[in-house]
Amino acid sequence: MTAPTQDLKLFQPGRIGDIAIANRVVMAPLTRSRADEAAGDVPGSALNVEYYRQRSGAGLIVSEGTQIAPLGKGYIATPGIHSEAQVQGWRRITQAVHEAGSKMLAQIWHVGRVSHPALTGGLQPVAPSAVAAQVLVRAHEGKLPAPLPHALSVAEIADVVDQYRRAAANALRAGFDGVEIHGANGYLIDQFLRDGANHRSDAYGGTVENRCRFALQVVDAVAAEIGAGRTGIRLSPVTPANDLADGNPQAVFGALVQALDRRGIAFIHLIEGATGGPRDVPGFDYGWARRHFRGAYIANNGYDRETAIAAVASGRADAVAFGRAFLANPDLVQRLKTGAALNKPDPRTFYSPGAAGYTDYPTL
Ligand code: PHB
Repeated sequence: MTAPTQDLKLFQPGRIGDIAIANRVVMAPLTRSRADEAAGDVPGSALNVEYYRQRSGAGLIVSEGTQIAPLGKGYIATPGIHSEAQVQGWRRITQAVHEAGSKMLAQIWHVGRVSHPALTGGLQPVAPSAVAAQVLVRAHEGKLPAPLPHALSVAEIADVVDQYRRAAANALRAGFDGVEIHGANGYLIDQFLRDGANHRSDAYGGTVENRCRFALQVVDAVAAEIGAGRTGIRLSPVTPANDLADGNPQAVFGALVQALDRRGIAFIHLIEGATGGPRDVPGFDYGWARRHFRGAYIANNGYDRETAIAAVASGRADAVAFGRAFLANPDLVQRLKTGAALNKPDPRTFYSPGAAGYTDYPTL
């Protein structure tokens, strides 16, 4: 027997670092490819505002991945947070979300080698090492093989760290309550962390400590800019997404979690298993991460009503993030409270322009 809804911790207020949240249901970051590309990857159209406003029943919304620079972009029509027009666009969204009673983080993103000059204004993608990802990149021209990336120099790495810092400053100016650093799913930070893409022999490669260096420099730069209590990171220790793997995920991500704990950041957001796929991928102990990190633990990947309620009730997680369920159910929290059936997401409209499959999913 589950407790009456009002007693379930999943639906009770809480805190993520400095941010007070009305419940522990989080909207996970979701690429929707509906920013205004012609205007310069600018979010904040009436449709974008409506999409996020509809989902403000979440205690916390994490924005779709938002590039910190033109080279950070790897998909069609993803929004940025490096220009003034982008900041003003985001302001319209955060204002609507706040008026509806929710909180919102900017997910700040650099895709690294998972890109193509067709998406970066002709620039060659960058990575820790000159090793191409065996993936197809979705561009206007169709699906294109990810090219050989340029291996970042130490000076160039410092510039990218500074782009993250500026993106975090922009996020607060845009009205966000904080920032989620995208450290997951085979993108730039993850490319430094895991030995499948990091073949460096300098201070940023080789040992676990060296492979964590870039992630921690980004965290330190962001936390110094906006405060540790408004800074968190999303990680996916074992996901095979974007052709990335590591020989010993427990060693790398264990060391990283302990270093993050020492920094006192607000949260870690863990994709448990394969992103959007099976949870039972071996290689990392999420309970260990929970016990070794004193900030909030946001759990993600394949949760449903019962498993989310149980994870928060038992203390295994402070909050649970839902991706596809939130995409297709703007009133997800209401549905979880009542046990109502969920709408099914339609993959044909995940990345298509317009309202279909974006703002037209039915509510109860
Ligand atoms: C995607 O659009 O497929 C996508 C974007 C960001 C992620 C994962 C998947 O972290």
